[in-house]
Amino acid sequence: MSELENEIRRRRTFAIISHPDAGKTTLTEKLLLYGGAIQLAGSVKGKATARHAVSDWMELEKQRGISITSSVMQFEYEGYCINILDTPGHQDFSEDTYRTLMAADSAVMVIDAAKGIEPQTRKLFRICAMRHIPIFTFINKLDRDARSPFELTEQLETEFGIGTYPMNWPIGSGRDFKGVYDRENRQILVFTENHRGQNRIEPVACRLEDTEALDALIGERLRRPLVEDIELLDGAGSEFSLEEVRAGRLSPVFFGSALNNFGVEPFLESFLRMTMPPLPRTSGGRPVDPVAEGFSAFVFKIQANMNKAHRDRIAFLRICSGVFHREREYYHVQEKKMIKLAQPQQLMADDRSIINEAYAGDIIGVFDPGIFSIGDTICEKGMDVCFEGMPTFAPEHFAAVERVDTMKRKQFEKGVEQIAQEGAIQIFHEPGVVMEEIIVGVVGVLQLEVLEYRLRTEYGVEIRRRDLPYEEIRWLKDPRLDPSTLNLTSDTKVVEDFRGNKLLLFTAEWCVRWALEKNEGLELLEFNRNEAPEQE
Ligand code: G4P
Repeated sequence: MSELENEIRRRRTFAIISHPDAGKTTLTEKLLLYGGAIQLAGSVKGKATARHAVSDWMELEKQRGISITSSVMQFEYEGYCINILDTPGHQDFSEDTYRTLMAADSAVMVIDAAKGIEPQTRKLFRICAMRHIPIFTFINKLDRDARSPFELTEQLETEFGIGTYPMNWPIGSGRDFKGVYDRENRQILVFTENHRGQNRIEPVACRLEDTEALDALIGERLRRPLVEDIELLDGAGSEFSLEEVRAGRLSPVFFGSALNNFGVEPFLESFLRMTMPPLPRTSGGRPVDPVAEGFSAFVFKIQANMNKAHRDRIAFLRICSGVFHREREYYHVQEKKMIKLAQPQQLMADDRSIINEAYAGDIIGVFDPGIFSIGDTICEKGMDVCFEGMPTFAPEHFAAVERVDTMKRKQFEKGVEQIAQEGAIQIFHEPGVVMEEIIVGVVGVLQLEVLEYRLRTEYGVEIRRRDLPYEEIRWLKDPRLDPSTLNLTSDTKVVEDFRGNKLLLFTAEWCVRWALEKNEGLELLEFNRNEAPEQE
């Protein structure tokens, strides 16, 4: 195997997804600990006074105690080079999360054992399923009272329509939690209260038939149901198939407690064995081989001002093939230009280190002087690739926004345009009206507050915001159609997006139906033609 191939094959790039509070941050922290990427437990999060995760960059996030931005962390573990994509769990940031999932090759889904599947888990799962990426489930917080493991796995199967294969099985929960039974190796990992830190847990080999030894270890009361459960699983549960796992049809399930660092390392080890090296991305319907082809990458995220010391923007690239060299120039497909990717870096919280090389599977951040948009392709000259399938979502909330100080027109326009380029908001205006008041559409309502905050702190512009009652957005399929000739309900608004496409904002679903009924031949699109998301 060539050195390049070796470097690429040892990479694993995955996203961690969960409903807020299920334990994503805690699990990420423990994984980083195993990689030696952080020194102390609790440095990602945990200090009661200054509680924030390594991935929290913006002030606003810290104030609210939620992760707004997604971050990327790289670490080495037993010969693997691992890229973790952290995804914001808050429901308001789903769009950003969806894009982040485009950069991942598999996903780890963290579920709270007392709560089971929650609304955000559902949304995120759908996106993973759309891409058919493998999903590994970590059922967390077994040290608290939990639902029955059968109930939890059944819920996954019925709600998500996938198979599950429990890799281990919990023995009790809450105060009774005694550990897990490792089905593959037929041994028990015993839980004691002091599992914090990096300690490895020595498994105890124990056959289920060895009643005496089991009783001594976990007690008769827990031994009986364990033996019955495992018999049932072995007899009636799904068969394990790596092929099914890799096709995203069978989710391996692990039980543990991230906070107590219980079950995390065995999870990491089996996860790494089962996941795949960087998967090919498609360009023009053809897969681009990560190893055989030259450097190519796509922009999946743009983030401004992560570090107060550097007032800049960073474009995040997922490398799809080949190797990136810092000193070389690459072709920016959408701009049709050769460019140098300035200050290429990998990120670890607000620490950035400049890198000279990066391989397929890696995520790098590059300085963005305002030339990148989400979904752009960068590659070696002459490669003829253009990656596709970056989902955009129809906004669900709208507001009219204008600046308080009329002198600050330039800053206002620049700020709003840049934030829109990052994909955090979409902007519209009434045809023929100069940009005094603009209409902003967002997927999550908290983005409006982020916009207000960022315009104030980064661009020095105070804004007035008026929330608008629109709920539905439709593009006109025929670009030549004059919307003023249409018969519409009086509260329907005609606007244009930044490309000059005409669209309609409706206050309710029935107004859309009205428009279709009263205007024969009218065709409306839920997404802009150029930006239709991948179909399920
Ligand atoms: P998130 O990123 O998915 O939102 O979840 P996060 O890791 O922040 O965890 C949410 C809460 O759940 C935290 O408690 C965390 O300590 C706790 N937690 C995570 N894993 C476990 C576990 O295995 N067992 C138990 N019992 N708790 C767990 P918090 O009170 O909100 O914060 P903190 O003050 O403990 O940091």
